[in-house]
Amino acid sequence: MKVAVGSDHGGLDLKKIVGEVLAAEGIQVIDVGTDSPDSVDYPDYARKVAELVRGGSVDLGILICGTGIGMSIAANKVPGIRAALAWDIFTARMARRHNNANILALGGRTTGPELAREIVKTFVREPFEAGRHEKRVNKIAEIERESHQ
Ligand code: RB5
Repeated sequence: MKVAVGSDHGGLDLKKIVGEVLAAEGIQVIDVGTDSPDSVDYPDYARKVAELVRGGSVDLGILICGTGIGMSIAANKVPGIRAALAWDIFTARMARRHNNANILALGGRTTGPELAREIVKTFVREPFEAGRHEKRVNKIAEIERESHQ
């Protein structure tokens, strides 16, 4: 499995931890930055990760800003992206099992490192249940198609 990760300055410290967790899971990590604590704009990193996910060169993405909110809003503007802001293990599990989320957004200022480790492990391990949820996810794609005409 390959996972793209990106953060702004508010998520930089947590991005390092996320990279460690992914490596320990045997996952190849593509880190699109940022690499310094200097202030940057989260949509630039959301776009990079979302486009990698959309293009299929990675399986999943993880985006971290101060709250995870800006990253999730920005990533969800890219067609085909289902970015979920998860703040506990249950929301991370449901994001994969029911919503087939392909990007996890985390808040570097809102989620502590130990909880974040468990959220990341859950997100990359859980499968999409499909079944009745597939029809609903397909309806999201339908909204996207019909709104971009
Ligand atoms: C940057 O200060 C902050 O606004 C950003 O990291 C994020 O929380 C936005 O949603």
